[in-house]
Amino acid sequence: MCNMQPVAMSRSMRIKGPARVSGSLKLPGDKSISHRVAMLASIANGSSAITGFASSADCQATLDCVRRLGIRADQTASELVIHGNGLFGYNPPGPEAQIDVRLDAGNSGSTIRMLSGLLAGQTFTSEITGDASLRRRPMARIIEPLGLMGAQVDATGGNFPPLTIRGRRLRAIGYESPVASAQVKTCVLFAGLLAEGSTVYCEPVLSRDHTELMLREFGAVLDGPSSGTLSIEGQHELRPVNYHVPGDVSSAAFLIAAASILPDSELKLEGIGLNPTRTAFLEIMRNLGAPIEVQNLLKRHGEPIGDLTVSNAQLRSGTQDAVLRGKIIPNIIDEIPILAIVATQVEGRVEIRDARELRIKESDRIRTVADGIRSLGGEIEEFEDGFAITGPQRLVGARVETAGDHRIAMAFAIAGLIAHGTTEIVDADCASVSYPEFYESLAMLCGRDTVAPRLDLI
Ligand code: S3P
Repeated sequence: MCNMQPVAMSRSMRIKGPARVSGSLKLPGDKSISHRVAMLASIANGSSAITGFASSADCQATLDCVRRLGIRADQTASELVIHGNGLFGYNPPGPEAQIDVRLDAGNSGSTIRMLSGLLAGQTFTSEITGDASLRRRPMARIIEPLGLMGAQVDATGGNFPPLTIRGRRLRAIGYESPVASAQVKTCVLFAGLLAEGSTVYCEPVLSRDHTELMLREFGAVLDGPSSGTLSIEGQHELRPVNYHVPGDVSSAAFLIAAASILPDSELKLEGIGLNPTRTAFLEIMRNLGAPIEVQNLLKRHGEPIGDLTVSNAQLRSGTQDAVLRGKIIPNIIDEIPILAIVATQVEGRVEIRDARELRIKESDRIRTVADGIRSLGGEIEEFEDGFAITGPQRLVGARVETAGDHRIAMAFAIAGLIAHGTTEIVDADCASVSYPEFYESLAMLCGRDTVAPRLDLI
């Protein structure tokens, strides 16, 4: 008898450099906005039609959770319709070992942290967990405020998923968050929406404000921010909204970086979300000398949207070294891995500090960035809260580990375009967590010979 061991396959990507990018592209829908619109539509009174909903695996996880909670969501190629049932209208499958619904957030920190705010105020018990990476990410930052509101949330070691959330009638609180996290802010505001009274939330530094803008669109009564403080009126029913999600500026960042550092490159990206709490990366690139222009700027649902053009230039950190720290960090937190790749091609030194949060993202991104750059023969100085890179450096193609982190995979795919020789991105498909079409887009912009998949047995 033949003794066949089951084999798993993972796809690595081979990138041949140096290359150039050229062309125009529409990016998939913004991941942050998509999570929020799916959640708010699920508790609105009626049906919301959403266009441009993100194709990302993370947002599909949110959608799956919403469906498990008994909400109908009809998705076609062009539109997603979510049939909300009101603030307390979830209809979970029912108890099994005292849990009414078991939810899987996959790799998505946004899904587990933000949805927990809505689960905490329901009348049933839910359990929410995720993949191995998510089960290592801290949840005490949401468990604490939810506990103060009267929710009961149990977690492994008081901090890690799975979370068992015994829904309760919540009371409003005033909460001063120690972290500038839009996921925590959203969790508390969502719980506040279900609570009795007005919940006040204060954050140390402004984090992305999509939740605030969107809550107003859905008719919530929200004051602020005045000096960093927000206040939301509880138990105010939401109206449905037909919502268009703009292109994801964090996904665009990888391509903007590519066009800036690769000689002879030129790129146009259409319909990108340009919310100022997300665009510091573009400002930094401009300050380094990248010619980035915005056209056709408009506002939808309070969110600025525009087309971007960018082309190659020699980037310089100037006479003063570029030190990025403090208030700007939450604005660029997801772009720091690609900024590190850019920094290897900048004339001068780029330093990132106050970014300790990077250590608790989908991977320890200070470590994975440093390891990746060293694999390509580059140099980087690593700090507990950031790193420093002095360029320009000659990178040489090599095998790069991604730790299953989507932004690490994409950042090093771009590094592979500037490196000499072939770069192999291990477990490359993790990019689908935020940008499933990423390699296809790259192949379109730089030619199919440059980007080729390879199947590995693991
Ligand atoms: C997000 C907030 C950020 C960011 C994440 C998406 C959001 O996380 O890193 O990719 O949509 O609110 P933190 O809230 O942990 O900073």
